[in-house]
Amino acid sequence: MANPADKTIRTTDYDALSCRFNAIRKNYLPDNYTTSMLSGLERLLKYESKLSHKRTFNAIVKSNKLPIINRGTYIRTRALDIVIEEFLRRFDGKCRVMNLGAGSDMRGFWLLEKYKDVEYVEIDFKETVRMKKGVVLTDEKLAGIVGAAYVKGDTQEWWDGLSGGLKTERYELVELDLRNVQALNSYLKEFDEAVPTLVLSECMLCYTESSVANEIIKTLKERLPQAALAIYDPIGGEGNFGNVMVENLKMRNLQMPSLLEYNTLEKYQKRLKDLGIPTVKGANMYFITNSWIDIDEQRRISKLEFLDEIEELKLLLEHYCLVLGYWGFDWELKLKFSL
Ligand SMILES: C[S@@+](CC[C@H](N)C(=O)[O-])C[C@H]1O[C@@H](n2cnc3c(N)ncnc32)[C@H](O)[C@@H]1O
Repeated sequence: MANPADKTIRTTDYDALSCRFNAIRKNYLPDNYTTSMLSGLERLLKYESKLSHKRTFNAIVKSNKLPIINRGTYIRTRALDIVIEEFLRRFDGKCRVMNLGAGSDMRGFWLLEKYKDVEYVEIDFKETVRMKKGVVLTDEKLAGIVGAAYVKGDTQEWWDGLSGGLKTERYELVELDLRNVQALNSYLKEFDEAVPTLVLSECMLCYTESSVANEIIKTLKERLPQAALAIYDPIGGEGNFGNVMVENLKMRNLQMPSLLEYNTLEKYQKRLKDLGIPTVKGANMYFITNSWIDIDEQRRISKLEFLDEIEELKLLLEHYCLVLGYWGFDWELKLKFSL
């Protein structure tokens, strides 16, 4: 039987999707297939649970996010996209991007469209993968992008028979509980080692017991000879921020083991170094907003919604970080990580 704690972790993906949808609706971010994911969910959730599907769907699309949340979603998405583009530039687009706990994130689809040599891998729990597979197969455009056969006219019977991941020439959707490090190791053994890999973890490792998360990172380091790991996670900080967040998460039956353990940027970077990653850089999202986003774009963003809580936004952004480690290749990164 499915573990109820895992179900709670899986639902964090709907929060992320809801945040992205709000940021798109308010013009912070381009759509890039998020609304295709939403239409797919609306189509398929009805097969999952007849009683609650409307409630789940409405909770995603009808919740209005505060301006500071939209700003946070914007910079989180842009920062990872910038790292991806830098990695693709480094290898002329001939590389692989692997998203751990990809959930309903759709950035793989525009990347596959834009870069004709890139391979894209998404990993998540089996229930999440099943839903994403269903959405992709029943959307003609998405199925076309990944090169899968389009399913016209989904039915309950079709849904009931749907399982497993999806593998095409350049795209793979993998059902794997990443806490099963042996299974991850076996999966990575099948990889073509010659292809450089950028691994993304956007709010995934933070939900994992730290010792297990460290084993995941070690396995990636051992199995992938030329790779980078980009982690976006909250950091509790030295004030009260982390404790308040822990209390809020508790009310939702969620835990973030890394939040207080790796509570500063320095500790988070040391974590990766101690796991044998030779080059590690990191910055908080406040720094990244001011250093990676050009001034015209910053102005455009600041005009989208009235924001009174300037100090609150700074505090929030300072408690999320992007840490980037890499090994097995040289990278003249133009991105600034410290003053
Ligand atoms: C907060 S959501 C983030 C989704 C996506 N990365 C984003 O930022 O929009 C966390 C995701 O990680 C997945 N996840 C968490 N623990 C996992 C595990 N042990 N194995 C596979 N997926 C996991 C969840 O199912 C969920 O989709």
